[in-house]
Amino acid sequence: MARVFVTRPIPGRAFKKLEEAHEVEVYPGPGKIPREKLLEEVKGVEAILSILTEKIDGEVMDAAGKQLKIVSNYAVGFDNVDLEAAKERNVMVANTPSSLGDAVAEFTVTLAMALSRNILPADHFVREGKYKVWDPSIFLGLDLTGKTLGVVGAGTIGSVVGKRMQAVFEMRVIYHSRSRNEAFERATNGRKVSLTELLQLADVVTLHVPLSAETRHMISWDEFSLMKKTAILINTSRGPVVREKALVEAVKNKKIWGAALDVFEQEVEKERKHLDPRDWRMLNRFDNVILTPHIASATVEAREEMTQMAVENIILALSGKTPRYLVKTS
Ligand code: GLV
Ligand code: GLV
Repeated sequence: MARVFVTRPIPGRAFKKLEEAHEVEVYPGPGKIPREKLLEEVKGVEAILSILTEKIDGEVMDAAGKQLKIVSNYAVGFDNVDLEAAKERNVMVANTPSSLGDAVAEFTVTLAMALSRNILPADHFVREGKYKVWDPSIFLGLDLTGKTLGVVGAGTIGSVVGKRMQAVFEMRVIYHSRSRNEAFERATNGRKVSLTELLQLADVVTLHVPLSAETRHMISWDEFSLMKKTAILINTSRGPVVREKALVEAVKNKKIWGAALDVFEQEVEKERKHLDPRDWRMLNRFDNVILTPHIASATVEAREEMTQMAVENIILALSGKTPRYLVKTS
């Protein structure tokens, strides 16, 4: 039995398997574990099961000690883990690329539909008692059928989104990624274009890139000015891929039709320093913006699978084997 530290309770029956195999300690929450507490709690553990609000860097790994074998991150993304530091210390890093992205893809499609048809403001309108009589001119949305979908990032999730939008709405798919991806093209009938061309042509722009130095603020002032006035932007990847200040301006000045954000530049409220509070309040008031609390992968099925993967990654690593979902650290 080895000691394992888990930075927040996670759902799913598979968690029991970890508790049966090892000595598991869980930070109970609520909310994010304070940094000092994290540094204290990891002392002497062989595995850390982390969630994406925790920055797992060299300091945390050193606080754990030399016996630390694996950081099993409960997410498909792993930008919160310092891979370089892990490599230097011979610590394995693993992730949970659940269900080939089905849950995130479905959520992305849902956001596109809700945004293009004004579902949230229309619902509020009825609830607030404003619906007195049918009116042909209210809540006019935009069709998705036959329009162009621009997928930024041609990985698994982007590919499922493309496939679904093509199947349901017969959308033309264009994509942008560093290199041509033939599997993506087969799944979506997609065509590779430059980011500029994608932003100029797409009616729906959806982001599915990991966060890196290269993708940070990939969508900023210039990018918004390339987009169609009728375009919608969906971000279910990582917040900092979009410069929120530029987004607020674009929405305010009607440079685009609307935006749906499941992720934000800063996801811990008290650390939300990058946006002027007035901008944040404005974002919260726009009718053509949908804001959700990073729930694209939050389905019962996906969480169960993520838990299964995260647990299995640890059990394999601690028995001297290679985790199935090992992240390459070099
Ligand atoms: C969620 O954002 C994930 O990376 O799985
Ligand atoms: C709208 O309700 C219609 O019947 O066209």
